[in-house]
Amino acid sequence: MGRPTPLQCICVMRTSTSATAREERPSQIRMALSSITNEVDTEAMAALHKATGLPIVGSQDWDRERLTHVLVLGPDGLTLACVGPLAALGSLRLDYGRGRLGHRLQSPIGRKHPLARALGLRPGQACPNILDATGGLGRDALLMARLGCEVVLCERNPVIAQMLSEALSRGTASSPILRAAIQRVRTIAADAREYLALCTPSSVPAVIYLDPMYPHRNKRALVKQEIRILRTLVGNDSDALDLFNAAIISGCERVVVKRPKGAPGIAGVSPHHQVLLPSSRYDVYCPG
Ligand SMILES: C[S@@+](CC[C@H](N)C(=O)[O-])C[C@H]1O[C@@H](n2cnc3c(N)ncnc32)[C@H](O)[C@@H]1O
Repeated sequence: MGRPTPLQCICVMRTSTSATAREERPSQIRMALSSITNEVDTEAMAALHKATGLPIVGSQDWDRERLTHVLVLGPDGLTLACVGPLAALGSLRLDYGRGRLGHRLQSPIGRKHPLARALGLRPGQACPNILDATGGLGRDALLMARLGCEVVLCERNPVIAQMLSEALSRGTASSPILRAAIQRVRTIAADAREYLALCTPSSVPAVIYLDPMYPHRNKRALVKQEIRILRTLVGNDSDALDLFNAAIISGCERVVVKRPKGAPGIAGVSPHHQVLLPSSRYDVYCPG
């Protein structure tokens, strides 16, 4: 496994969160760390154990431990495998050089892009620095970096934060375009509210981007497999309003909130303006 990009940890996190968030998950989470070959770097395994707090188990013990998720370290990096009662969900692996996202990141992207408009990027003007306060799978952060912005990527789930860091580090071996975007991203394993509380007036980001998990009430809604897997770990971000409030009072110039099409706004206040997409939208708030 390549060395992860520097990952700053400003608080110790547990994989379990509030009672509300636990209830939103489909089952009790039982996670462990495993390697599938003997060739794996034992130092990397120890570092992962330290960062995530996950116990290390051999692959023969997955059933006996009644696990729901296994973070597997292989020669080609990290994969989160859903096992036991969640096995039907498959596995999650972040790879920014491939698939639809890989293609989007390689394609030309300009300031007329809906995300660029939501962030307030203007032709001929410098890019604002951004806090992506809901890192998740890192897709939006990379798009923002591809647009030229410096991005702090904050993810509070320690397992997802490690996967992000490892995938970004792996991605630097990819094309020069992807490498340049990745070099603009700094990953922080922390709750974004704690990160914002530590910012000084000079270090507050110009733009704060939020894309909290949205509870899908329509069971037939087509939710991407990777988001379904993510949801089993992080729940429904039921404290998103707190994060929004922290962003609004942080002193930043703009808060951008991604919402599914038809969903109510995150708070009872109207956004300054909206950028509409076919199945989602960006609500833009300009505090101050
Ligand atoms: C829907 S996902 C974001 C997807 C992301 N925009 C992408 O492009 O992949 C929401 C993520 O935000 C994280 N999150 C929610 N609240 C957070 C907070 N206060 N601080 C840090 N991360 C948070 C969750 O753990 C989850 O991984």
